[in-house]
Amino acid sequence: MSKSLQAIRGMNDILPEQTPVWRYFEGTVSRLLDNYGYKQIRMPIVEFTELFKRSIGEVTDIVEKEMYTFDDRNGDSLTLRPEGTAACVRAVLEHGITGGGQVQKLWYIGPMFRHERPQKGRYRQFHQIGLEVFNLDGPDIDAELIVLTWRLWGELGIRDAVKLELNSLGTSESRARYREALVEYLSAHHDKLDEDSQRRLKTNPLRVLDTKNADTQAVLVDAPKMADYLDDESRAHFEGLKARLDAVGIPYVLNPKLVRGLDYYSKTVFEWVTDKLGAQGTVCAGGRYDGLVEQMGGKPTPGVGFAMGIERLVLLLETLEQIPDEISRQVDVYLCAFGEEAELAGLALAERVRDQLPNLRLQVNAGAGSFKSQFKKADKSGALYALILGDDEMAQQVVGFKPLRGQGEQQSIAWDALAAHLATCVVQG
Ligand code: HAM
Repeated sequence: MSKSLQAIRGMNDILPEQTPVWRYFEGTVSRLLDNYGYKQIRMPIVEFTELFKRSIGEVTDIVEKEMYTFDDRNGDSLTLRPEGTAACVRAVLEHGITGGGQVQKLWYIGPMFRHERPQKGRYRQFHQIGLEVFNLDGPDIDAELIVLTWRLWGELGIRDAVKLELNSLGTSESRARYREALVEYLSAHHDKLDEDSQRRLKTNPLRVLDTKNADTQAVLVDAPKMADYLDDESRAHFEGLKARLDAVGIPYVLNPKLVRGLDYYSKTVFEWVTDKLGAQGTVCAGGRYDGLVEQMGGKPTPGVGFAMGIERLVLLLETLEQIPDEISRQVDVYLCAFGEEAELAGLALAERVRDQLPNLRLQVNAGAGSFKSQFKKADKSGALYALILGDDEMAQQVVGFKPLRGQGEQQSIAWDALAAHLATCVVQG
């Protein structure tokens, strides 16, 4: 196939054999979010470029080098969203739904776009499920966000494989004081810093903290610590969060170098990381952004949220083999009919069964075929049972009921009794 007719590097098709796991994951998360009282919001995939520059920050990796930006036919500069928070803030402001202190607990799902170097767990189109909460400024809601992810990991059977890293960046005032101290210290060691950190020292000094360069890391050992610069308010907030995590029994690791790659954070920041996926081990990340709404032209409105990477969590479920068997089975019962008369009767019978068992996954053979070929298709579909309608069954107004997976003989069931019989042997999702 010519290259121009292939998918773009880092942008993947999710094939039918993979979608059951995606739907299992997405279904589990959305049910959980319903139960915790979060409401779904859907934003466009494209926004004005300015939105992301203003919110994520001009000197972040995302804005400097990863955005898919283009001029549309009106000459407006637009960008495929690299994340969801900016658009969510724009939407709540535009529709006035956080005005007057209204609390909003929102979630979204969808594709995001970043021009990063593709590798396992890192793609150019990837998918996030994100949460954003507005107008709650206490540590209780920060804790709720973490508690609900902890429950999610439990339900998915991956708790043992993830670890919570936690930090506080403080209020903007305390961060400004820290930034000053850090710049002073790092400037005194300027020559020992790697080139990228020298540049960041001027543009975004806090990002020097998460450098991968060993020489710069050595310089950082004696650098001023963020924790020493937290003001009372930030400190109390952080203590409040930790107390709540302790109360629920959620383990965490304090990571003073956790600064995040987006500029809008204040106070709480956190990441759930795993060592089971190689280099791209962060499966869920977020924090508080109390200044962002105001920075984007709204009234001061506290905000906190996170986003998880669906590809990475699906990979983790697969790696840990935590995919329930029934997830991959998409057919419960497969109906085979032989001859035109049986086909017509089978179609009508299937509709009657569907009326009575709306959750049954019943597939009717299409494309006719010999006994052998229809059985082959029934087996390949993964169905638990085959229903058979041939000349003999038609004459007696019964259907042959044949277990395809376990033990058990074929039996005949009267048409009228079929739905009731299926209800007893198929657990319906
Ligand atoms: P983020 O850390 O940039 O935060 O992304 C959140 C998650 O999305 C990551 O932890 C990772 O699981 C996934 N992710 C990011 N980039 C990629 C990629 N190239 N390929 C695959 N997965 C990826 C945000 O986006 C913030 N908006 C989170 C947030 C919401 N903070 C507050 N509210």
